[in-house]
Amino acid sequence: MPTILITGGTGLIGRNLTRLLIEKGCRVIILTRNTKKANKKIRKAFSSIQDPTLISTAAWSVRNQTIDVDAIGEADYIVHLAGAGVAEKRWTARRKKEIVSSRTKSSALIVKALSENSNKVKAVISASAIGWYTPTPISNQQTVTRIETDPPDQGFLGETCRLWEESIGQVTLMHKRLVKLRTGIVLSNEGGAFKSFKRPIRWGLGTILGDGRQIISWIHVEDLCRIYWEAINNEQWSGVYNAVAPAPVTNKVFILALARKIKGNFFIPIHVPSFVLKLTLGEMSIEVLKSANISEEKLRRAGFQFLYPSVEAAFDQLTAISRRDAK
Ligand SMILES: NC(=O)c1ccc[n+]([C@@H]2O[C@H](COP(=O)([O-])OP(=O)(O)OC[C@H]3O[C@@H](n4cnc5c(N)ncnc54)[C@H](OP(=O)(O)O)[C@@H]3O)[C@@H](O)[C@H]2O)c1
Repeated sequence: MPTILITGGTGLIGRNLTRLLIEKGCRVIILTRNTKKANKKIRKAFSSIQDPTLISTAAWSVRNQTIDVDAIGEADYIVHLAGAGVAEKRWTARRKKEIVSSRTKSSALIVKALSENSNKVKAVISASAIGWYTPTPISNQQTVTRIETDPPDQGFLGETCRLWEESIGQVTLMHKRLVKLRTGIVLSNEGGAFKSFKRPIRWGLGTILGDGRQIISWIHVEDLCRIYWEAINNEQWSGVYNAVAPAPVTNKVFILALARKIKGNFFIPIHVPSFVLKLTLGEMSIEVLKSANISEEKLRRAGFQFLYPSVEAAFDQLTAISRRDAK
């Protein structure tokens, strides 16, 4: 039974991945800044799991650079998800520093722990984000796609992703296999952007951001977790992969399709002008207004098959689940 250590495993992706890993017969250790809170979250999220020894928590402090070395010794694989939420708070200078350092300093701590302690870790699978890429120009956004070999954007997120990937890249010096997953917008009922997209629709408003022409590269959380599973298991996988679905759509197509799915014809489409987004979100508005047409070709060539290749397929599943849970 392989043991997978997940940093930031209490978050949206970590909880879903933990569920899949337990189903696949793995043991999971969640590395967290607060074991008491994490244990509470785990009890709530995994109440149906019979064997409580399958999921445990271990402590680390990125700020103080301390880590439970026993957890490192037990791990066969490390999944590195930890990082301060990019869209959680306004991007003040302080917040930006935290977004970067929570990723680079946590990577450095993993690298240090692996180099100083005997371990059997075979591979490290790290999150990264499609924020790496320069926005696709709106004029030819349907034909220009971004691929893994493209250089990082010069903006804040591009630079963050570059430093993040560079910091975790040090594990390859210890001959560990490293996979970096540049992830698109994750669709899940449990949180993240999808919940924010749904909220105004429930009130009857289809809120299109800016002119709505910008492309969203998204991925269903279940497919993303299956990609992590493949990255853990398949020794051929190494380097960077874009973790996005094959059919990105414009913001307008996305919102209208979701609104129709939830409300039928009973909603009013409205545009939130770019200047309002700039006023409310500040610099972060760049992210919701920029076009990101990201290619998933490398994943497909590696043999990955999507359960949810289109927004229709993803929305069908996600809205069916939330209707079932509401009953
Ligand atoms: N969700 C998406 O749409 C998306 C898209 C692209 C990339 N990603 C990346 O994938 C990773 C996981 O995403 P997610 O949606 O699961 O994120 P999440 O729900 O925000 O969870 C991230 C976890 O990281 C830990 N964390 C938060 N702030 C931290 C800090 N300052 N220092 C150290 N650890 C901290 C927390 O765990 P503890 O409190 O237990 O320590 C938290 O549960 C993130 O790095 C994110 O940037 C996500």
